[in-house]
Amino acid sequence: MATNLIMLGPPGAGKGTQAERVALARGIPRISTGDILREAVHDGTMMGGSVRAVMDRGELVGDDVMIGIVTERLGRPDAENGFVLDGFPRTVTQAAALDTLMAGRDPLIVLDIVVPEAELARRLGMRMICEDCGVTADGHETAPGRCSRCGGRLMQRSDDSSLVVLERFKIYQRATKPLVDFYHGRPTFRSINGAQTADCVAADLAAAIEALRNGRVNGASGGSPR
Ligand code: AP5
Ligand code: MG
Repeated sequence: MATNLIMLGPPGAGKGTQAERVALARGIPRISTGDILREAVHDGTMMGGSVRAVMDRGELVGDDVMIGIVTERLGRPDAENGFVLDGFPRTVTQAAALDTLMAGRDPLIVLDIVVPEAELARRLGMRMICEDCGVTADGHETAPGRCSRCGGRLMQRSDDSSLVVLERFKIYQRATKPLVDFYHGRPTFRSINGAQTADCVAADLAAAIEALRNGRVNGASGGSPR
């Protein structure tokens, strides 16, 4: 059975952090729509040029663009045996499109990472990323202010200023939180307590995935069940 996973959660919940761990542990690709868009902006592609201002305001890129990106990415061979989606779907329209794309594939496992807003704001206020490779600083940098992976300069993400973060929270509540209702009736949905250390969150996520994959879909697992 393929592990077809969605990480849901507000900005700063730890979707990227956890998606990377799960992808590495399971040998499946992590598909981060935010990273794909930021790479396009960094590379100066036509799409990058058209989404830059939208992202800098903390707003959502249009559904058609996002569905097109994910349709192409999930169609590649490396996604046949599973994937972790980080940052998609973000609207009910995107979720419905994903259901269509999943026809004939193993069911989606949907993990919603829950963290109080004050903690989200604290994390985003402190986050630093590499201006060259985009990786999030992990606190293990050998040279101050430099990326531990490529040596690039560390900077604040362009949408992590406090005003833009507030806008992202608002948009999350309006457009993305309804996805919890969209998915929570499914037996493959779990809420995970994200307000723990990253290692504890990872352990809860792994336990939830294993329980769901083993078919114990009605048992509580991985943090507070809904
Ligand atoms: P995206 O890149 O997806 O951003 P986001 O959803 O706002 O989420 P973040 O990346 O800020 O947070 P995260 O949950 O990944 O947390 P992370 O692990 O980094 O989207 C950016 C923009 O792109 C959108 O605003 C939109 O414009 C556009 N976009 C993307 N997808 C789209 C779509 N589908 N439709 C339309 N538009 C789209 O962690 C955050 C920080 O906390 C890090 O510093 C991390 O080290 C730290 N941290 C993580 N876990 C813990 C922990 N357990 N304890 C303490 N610190 C922790
Ligand atoms: Mg992220």
